[in-house]
Amino acid sequence: MYYDPILENHGMRYNPFKALVTPRPIGWISTLDKSGNANLAPYSFFNAVAADPPYVVFGVGGHNEERPRKDSAVNAEETGEFVVNIVGLAHADQMNRTAHWVDPGVDEFEFAGLEKEPSVKVAVPRVKGAPAHLECIYDRTVLLPSRIDGFPNSVVFGRVVGVHIDDSVINEDGRVDVLLYRPVARMGYLDYTSIGQLIQLEKYQI
Ligand SMILES: Cc1cc2nc3c(=O)[nH]c(=O)nc-3n(C[C@H](O)[C@H](O)[C@H](O)COP(=O)(O)O)c2cc1C
Repeated sequence: MYYDPILENHGMRYNPFKALVTPRPIGWISTLDKSGNANLAPYSFFNAVAADPPYVVFGVGGHNEERPRKDSAVNAEETGEFVVNIVGLAHADQMNRTAHWVDPGVDEFEFAGLEKEPSVKVAVPRVKGAPAHLECIYDRTVLLPSRIDGFPNSVVFGRVVGVHIDDSVINEDGRVDVLLYRPVARMGYLDYTSIGQLIQLEKYQI
């Protein structure tokens, strides 16, 4: 089958696009608003896009006349900081809970029963107990057109300035062992996956 994503003429019950680009890592983004209220929300349009120095992005969409722009983007732009909390399987339900649409200023850490811990280089708190955290300085926002005029999608870039890794997820070889925390990733629809198996491939030689 073939369809045009603007026409959405796929004839399927649900838009299949997000089921095709999978699994998507989840950036669990914490921010502070201008008044210092903490905010936390998951973004699966998320990835690392450079390593030296490291940069990450998260993509924010879905706003319109009724719904204002999402707090994570507004806060990152206004305060210049955010933290990416890595989601292990133990936090899957609480991560999901922080996606609830709550009024700006509502602290989703408290809403989801999560504790905070301070960061080193940014004022934004981290999710206590997450296997790793990336402290980020806001870099820029790239606006992409959406189908609703005047409400573009935002791709928020941040430079990673500090990295926390819980000692419990570093194995005896000195490697981060994802099997010790089982990162959660988003599939399509309401489906998620969690890494429980690894395969190794030989390095490609030219
Ligand atoms: C696993 C998961 C991934 C999500 N990914 C995105 C995303 O990539 N972009 C987006 O705009 N919303 C995404 N959402 C929805 C936001 O988390 C939700 O709209 C949230 O209320 C935004 O909170 P904020 O206004 O505090 O930033 C996702 C939700 C879940 C549960």
